[in-house]
Amino acid sequence: PTGWLSDSLGRPLHDLRISVTDRCNFRCVYCMPKDVFDKQYQFLPHSDLLTFEELTRVAAQFVAHGVRKIRLTGGEPLLRKNIETLIGMLAALRTPEDEPVDLTLTTNGTLLKQKAQALKDAGLKRVTVSLDSLDDEGFRRMNDVDFPVARVLEGIDAAHAAGLGPVKINMVVKKGVNDDQILPMARYFKGTPAILRFIEYMDVGSSNGWRMDEVLPSAEVVRLIATEMPLEVADPNYTGETAERWRYVDGSGEIGVISSVTQAFCQDCSRARLSTEGRVYTCLFASEGHDLRSIVRSGGSDAEIAGAIAALWGQRGDRYSELRSALREAPLRKVEMSYIGG
Ligand code: GTP
Ligand code: 5AD
Ligand code: SF4
Ligand code: SF4
Repeated sequence: PTGWLSDSLGRPLHDLRISVTDRCNFRCVYCMPKDVFDKQYQFLPHSDLLTFEELTRVAAQFVAHGVRKIRLTGGEPLLRKNIETLIGMLAALRTPEDEPVDLTLTTNGTLLKQKAQALKDAGLKRVTVSLDSLDDEGFRRMNDVDFPVARVLEGIDAAHAAGLGPVKINMVVKKGVNDDQILPMARYFKGTPAILRFIEYMDVGSSNGWRMDEVLPSAEVVRLIATEMPLEVADPNYTGETAERWRYVDGSGEIGVISSVTQAFCQDCSRARLSTEGRVYTCLFASEGHDLRSIVRSGGSDAEIAGAIAALWGQRGDRYSELRSALREAPLRKVEMSYIGG
């Protein structure tokens, strides 16, 4: 069967985010804190990962059922060996209207300088780069490794040069840790082709020790920037966009704020997430996934994969961010972001 799917709250399935590895060369305090993701931490063995063929087969069924945008994430997706081959395979997929999908990737930028051109040649359309600080010391406070900011900035330039732009820059703001970087980051990217987005620190996963008092509400980020560089609100590019857009009044570009904590956007959430080992999560904050790998590896047909996707999306009623404030306790054990992808 092909066609659109709608969940129990009437939300379509549009967007598939695929985690291609649960590993990363950073240890961001809000995502893979070092005390949990240490030398003893058991990452997935290679045999548990979906192969490129398996992944493409599953993705094809999602595309047959409404997915128009695929984002590769991780962990750090550029650590997956031969990722260009997978990009080529996904770029060859066609929607029922015979269109290619919008194929993008979220990276920490460490390998972008050397890989940008190969990614573009393989069929990638755009990249999003995570960058939480412009100075090396602040960068280290957020990602807990020694890596020069300059190399990430070179990666962003390389992505623009290769035609992977406009590059979106994601900055997670943690109050008291990197909020001093809001203005320097805004000044640096203003007037460049890059689009800087500020993300509220979220209570995703079970290991980052999230506290509400470490969240800086996006309204304050906008207010702070606007005092120096006047901003006006801009219309969304599409329904269900995670970021609220603000443009500089002087015409020198735009910024975005992603406010999952203070302004939930579950109402139009059309995103499914496929974990590294082939489980589908219908919410970033879910504790259980739906296993597709066992169907694939036991010789299931495309129709069986499609049937499983239709069933899980039909049952979906997730709206964690909307409920967060109402929930007195966090749900069971939430899955880690490095496992299902941002
Ligand atoms: P584009 O607008 O096409 O670039 O996609 P996007 O807005 O989904 O961008 P991106 O994948 O960079 O998402 C940015 C960040 O928003 C992620 O890293 C997450 O932190 C957050 N985010 C994305 N999707 C969701 C979601 O469904 N729920 C919540 N709570 N946060 C999300
Ligand atoms: N809160 C907000 N954003 C997060 N990300 C990872 N963990 C969190 C969190 N706890 C985002 C990072 C990165 C993407 C991979 O996921 O900004 O851009
Ligand atoms: Fe790695 Fe990205 Fe998580 Fe940081 S946020 S630890 S770069 S996957
Ligand atoms: Fe979608 Fe869950 Fe995020 Fe809400 S909290 S926007 S349902 S992923």
